[in-house]
Amino acid sequence: MYTVYCVCLGLLYVVYERLVLSPLSKVPGPAIAATTRLVLIYHEFTRNRRRWIHALHMQYGPVVRIAPNEVSMATWDAAKEIYVSGGSGYDKTSLYKLFDSYETECMFSTLDKAPHGERRKRVADRYIKSFVMQPDVVTGMQERAQQFVAKCTEKTGSVSVDIYVYLHCYAIDCTTYHLFDPHGLNSLTSAADLAKVMELSHHDDLKGSYMQYYFTELFRFTSQFARRADRSQGIAAQIMNIVLRNDIAEHTVLYRLQTHVDMLDSRSIASEIMDHTLAGLDTTGDALCFLMYHLSLPASVTFQEKLHYELAENPSTPIDDLSYLDAIVKEGLRCFSPVLTSLPRRVPRSGRTIAGVFLPEETIVSCQAYTLHRMDEKVFPHPEEFIPERWLEPEGSIERNQLLSAFSTGGRGCIGKHLALLEMKMLLKETYSCYRTSVSPEMTASMDVDDQFVTSRPIGRKCLLSFVKIV
Ligand code: HEM
Repeated sequence: MYTVYCVCLGLLYVVYERLVLSPLSKVPGPAIAATTRLVLIYHEFTRNRRRWIHALHMQYGPVVRIAPNEVSMATWDAAKEIYVSGGSGYDKTSLYKLFDSYETECMFSTLDKAPHGERRKRVADRYIKSFVMQPDVVTGMQERAQQFVAKCTEKTGSVSVDIYVYLHCYAIDCTTYHLFDPHGLNSLTSAADLAKVMELSHHDDLKGSYMQYYFTELFRFTSQFARRADRSQGIAAQIMNIVLRNDIAEHTVLYRLQTHVDMLDSRSIASEIMDHTLAGLDTTGDALCFLMYHLSLPASVTFQEKLHYELAENPSTPIDDLSYLDAIVKEGLRCFSPVLTSLPRRVPRSGRTIAGVFLPEETIVSCQAYTLHRMDEKVFPHPEEFIPERWLEPEGSIERNQLLSAFSTGGRGCIGKHLALLEMKMLLKETYSCYRTSVSPEMTASMDVDDQFVTSRPIGRKCLLSFVKIV
């Protein structure tokens, strides 16, 4: 009886501390979420974290307490402080340890600033815009974009094609060309490589990843008995073999890592290459899939026409100077970014004040692109509507570009941004220069967003479109 009494008293004190004494007690948000993390965990396991946080922002404003020690923010000033201050913002939380491969850290899973910066410097030159726009790289992407169009149009008549699969093929073929040519995947032309992409792009990692994050020891223990279906086992073995080769093309990321004066061991190199391979697959393929689906809806006929007109009128203009193409891609990334969810960081020693709120050291703080892309209706009027033209307006351009967070920002933002933009633009150029697309009448799969652990993809994992040649 005495024990029960003590436990109840202890629990009451915890609730009182979290609701009244904690420096976060003044942050708006539901009291129940401020009292226990179980509320957030519930929304995470039920695939609702992003939508729940967005609804809280709409109700409480740009700063919301979502757990006893976690706060979500939704302004550019907050994003700048969290992700850009001191170059690369605050350190990451242990959630990112789940992205180790071969039980070895990569740049993405390195939590602290200094070792991360050292890692990033090793490969940064392979991803800067001037390197990515070199003829070697551009031609590589163009060939693959042409293979995509050929694949989608090989059968004549109004046959529908599942672009979900072929866009993932395109994304991984482009990424692995940049990473380890001449041993990159050719899934648009080889049946064996296509089978690997099918396996990689139909997985569902959400619950397993949260289990691993919250119940690490239990997960490790049960994994010994249950044969865990790791989607990347096959590709992991292949990448390890490629890393050990000495015939890698000079333009690649792997060559850069292999020839660094202070070379990493082969497991670390493999972990890095593996992470970039999956980072390039799960993002560009889904971003293009959502965007092409939207462009193929009857309501988007004018967007396709304007895009086709620009491409047909300017066949030899450098791809980056096509303003309507750029506007389509930006609006696609705003509306259907494949990384919509929070990118968690830890508040540094002695705490910080953001948006007038003091956050103690080790508070978890983040912004989510989904809300940054919608909440401020002065910057994005009619936020739920797909309006590429908004990006052509000079007025408000700085604010729009600041809030566009598809690639995040600062020194830990997406290193593959310029490669991804080139891939996306090249594919749209090769497609809409010569073809019109429409959603096939047989398309019944849901294109609603299915949140995975970090990325998001269409629920139905299928997108049937018809391609018609423009004569
Ligand atoms: C539309 C396509 C893409 C989107 C929307 C995207 C988005 C992002 C975002 C938001 C981050 C930061 C994540 C965080 O802080 O937690 C990130 C990091 C990263 N991305 Fe991308 N990405 C895309 C394509 C690519 C491609 C094609 C590659 C490489 C081939 C790539 C490689 C990486 C890497 C290595 C990081 C970690 C960077 C670091 O830790 O310094 N991404 N990406």
